[in-house]
Amino acid sequence: MISDQTMPLPDSQEVAKVLTQALPYIQRFAGQICVVKYGGNAMTEEELKNSFARDVVLLKLVGMQPVVVHGGGPQIGACLKALNLGTEFINGIRVTDKRTMEVVEMVLGGKVNKEIVQLIQNNSGTAIGITGVDGQTIQAEKLESSDGIDYGYVGKVTGVNTKLITKLLNNNIIPVIAPVGSGPNGERFNINADTAASSIAAALQASKLLILTNTRGVLDKKMELIQRVNKQQVNDLIADGTISGGMLPKIECALNALHEGVKSVQIVDGRIPHALLLELFTEDGFGTQILP
Ligand SMILES: Nc1ncnc2c1ncn2[C@@H]1O[C@H](COP(=O)(O)OP(=O)(O)OP(=O)(O)O)[C@@H](O)[C@H]1O
Ligand SMILES: [Mg+2]
Repeated sequence: MISDQTMPLPDSQEVAKVLTQALPYIQRFAGQICVVKYGGNAMTEEELKNSFARDVVLLKLVGMQPVVVHGGGPQIGACLKALNLGTEFINGIRVTDKRTMEVVEMVLGGKVNKEIVQLIQNNSGTAIGITGVDGQTIQAEKLESSDGIDYGYVGKVTGVNTKLITKLLNNNIIPVIAPVGSGPNGERFNINADTAASSIAAALQASKLLILTNTRGVLDKKMELIQRVNKQQVNDLIADGTISGGMLPKIECALNALHEGVKSVQIVDGRIPHALLLELFTEDGFGTQILP
């Protein structure tokens, strides 16, 4: 007769099942680069941020090469407010004058970036935080809009230098990148974090770009989750106004990344604990997969 002590507990059975289910994914993803865009809007609760950091460390430990690119819109907004500086959005883009740019750079490169680095380190990972200025990782120029609006120091990406990121990856370090771009005349530009993440994913020829945000994924008119969406469907959803605001740059970047050779792009709900693990290592995955 088997004694009680040797009988596996139901909980441990469950853990074993989950680990077994993850095995083929771990094998498939070994050594591959996964760029994770962590949206400022998904960085709300402390516990969520910590579970994100733990997931990133776990990805590294099972052999993937995670690269984190983060946003920080709400954090920039809060700092501007504390400094009594107004801010204006036109077409979802923050008009960024010189003073605002100083705040953007401080908040993204100082506060948000170091917070993520610290959380990864608290979970025994090794991370180095940089902005796109370091190593000229993100090269940028002023965004000239077709509508004649002057957005100030809002930049568009003109190039990505992957040397520094590659050095970090080769040394088993998790790069954490703030979306600040370096201009041709030494000026710095505020770059949309989705754009920064997709440009970096494309330059690295990453196998995955995961965009963590504060919705379940791309939602249709009835607010239901769309599991897969291709370019043509995206165009229709934009034309009828279903996709708007912060989802616009996300979708555009997702399509660009696919076009430039990133193998898979997924928009997932960063408000769910362990969103990264669920997407990468379970059969169902979740969120919206963007197709060319
Ligand atoms: N069809 C849609 N489906 C889902 N979200 C949509 C859709 N259309 C517009 N949105 C908006 O896009 C938002 C996500 O973009 P947002 O820029 O706010 O977050 P983020 O990019 O994750 O954060 P950050 O800009 O700080 O990096 C959602 O909260 C939602 O309000
Ligand atoms: Mg956004």
